[in-house]
Amino acid sequence: MEILHVSAECFPMAKAGGLADVVGALPKYQIAIGHIAKVVMPMYRTSFLYNNEWEVVHKGAIQFGESQLEFTVIKEKSDFLKFNLFCIDIHGLLDRQKIYGYDDDNERFLAFQLSVIEWVSKWKHQPDVVHVHDYHAGLIPFFMRYCYDYRHLNTIKTVLTIHNAQYQGWMNWSFKKYFPVYDSWKAGLLEWNNQINPLACAIKCADKVNTVSPTYMKELMNTANGLESLFEFEKGKCSGIINGIDNSVWNPKTDPLIHKQFDQKNIVVGKRKNKQKLCEAFGFDESLPLIVFIGRLVGEKAADLLPEAISNAFEKSNKKFNCLILGNGEKTIEKKLSAIHQQWFGYYHSQIEYNEKLSHQMYAGADFLLMPSRVEPCGLNQLYAMKYGTIPIVRRTGGLNDTVVDIGDNGYGICFNNATVEDIVFSIIRAIKFYENADMVDNIRKKMIKINTSWEKSAQDYIDLYHSIYR
Ligand code: GLC
Repeated sequence: MEILHVSAECFPMAKAGGLADVVGALPKYQIAIGHIAKVVMPMYRTSFLYNNEWEVVHKGAIQFGESQLEFTVIKEKSDFLKFNLFCIDIHGLLDRQKIYGYDDDNERFLAFQLSVIEWVSKWKHQPDVVHVHDYHAGLIPFFMRYCYDYRHLNTIKTVLTIHNAQYQGWMNWSFKKYFPVYDSWKAGLLEWNNQINPLACAIKCADKVNTVSPTYMKELMNTANGLESLFEFEKGKCSGIINGIDNSVWNPKTDPLIHKQFDQKNIVVGKRKNKQKLCEAFGFDESLPLIVFIGRLVGEKAADLLPEAISNAFEKSNKKFNCLILGNGEKTIEKKLSAIHQQWFGYYHSQIEYNEKLSHQMYAGADFLLMPSRVEPCGLNQLYAMKYGTIPIVRRTGGLNDTVVDIGDNGYGICFNNATVEDIVFSIIRAIKFYENADMVDNIRKKMIKINTSWEKSAQDYIDLYHSIYR
């Protein structure tokens, strides 16, 4: 089968979150089991773009309201990523440094999607499946099916994967002026609550819809930022497929970013050495358990609860742990996390930035990883942590619920039910107590590193999903 993934992010070209990791890994694993998988994304001006060689493979133009926009498709030349990566450039819209956060994001992603379809419509053969990720690519199934100019694409199957249903790409109806002429009887498919809603449109128009874990799919029927009844209505074509991790990037045995590589056999020594280095760097006493948080500092991840929860846990435990935070996000949360440095000096540090290298060192050197998320469609950090022998402390939600089993149930994590300061503090205290039994901790580590969370199974699940619609 030939699959074209369409996404706003793809690691290592451009990453804001887990979406990039998924789109940068899944195609490799699909290729490994005998399929052709390609990725197309916008050509942001990232360091990856400048540090690699590209060739121009197509030039075309789209009508965009009153103007004609020219676009260029380039392809990474050396193929070291193990899949074809295509980027689309549109002067004035996509030639920017950041992925998101501009006032004209709607225009940018709309022009991107139109260029993708225009380009695909010129392919000599057609892909079997166009696999769109999140709302940034959500209008593609509609355009492919109902625009007169693209009628010949309407037999190509489409799949939507939802990595986050909070963001839906809402636009008012004035944006219609940018759309190619479509069957006006179908206008209702574009709409949700009197607005154009690209995510809702994709849920209605794609042949199959999945989220990145089964529990998240169930949760969406109750809370989906306004789309609950749509999920309920379309549930026949909806499913959950858990994400995997890319073993070639996330493997403590080969990871070049960590201080001491390790595997199952020397995990105890490996963890100790990595922890030593990390504690040295942040002035921590390495005999205490080290609890870390890695992620975007936003309400969805319950990062707003961290300052109070951490302070309470320090007080309650009489400073019996160290805590290291890595991430950036909402300014108020960043400020609050920095404001408690003084009070817990020597035990606490917050590093307010996005830092891929430090994150690897934290997975390798920490004892516990805290994820109190309010919403977690899948979550990859807990999978990375487990692979590096770090015990996850998670709220039972979305993919966290599907991937972490509590130590009380013969599992390997610490799980709690509510995204509240109380539950977080209670779980940190549980972790500190658990850490006192070094043998148990080592056993759990050995157990976790053996769990196979790689993409192999889920990559096949996606192929099975395509087969269910493709004859
Ligand atoms: C989003 C979700 C995260 C998921 C990732 C990849 O970032 O928040 O839970 O793991 O997408 O699917």
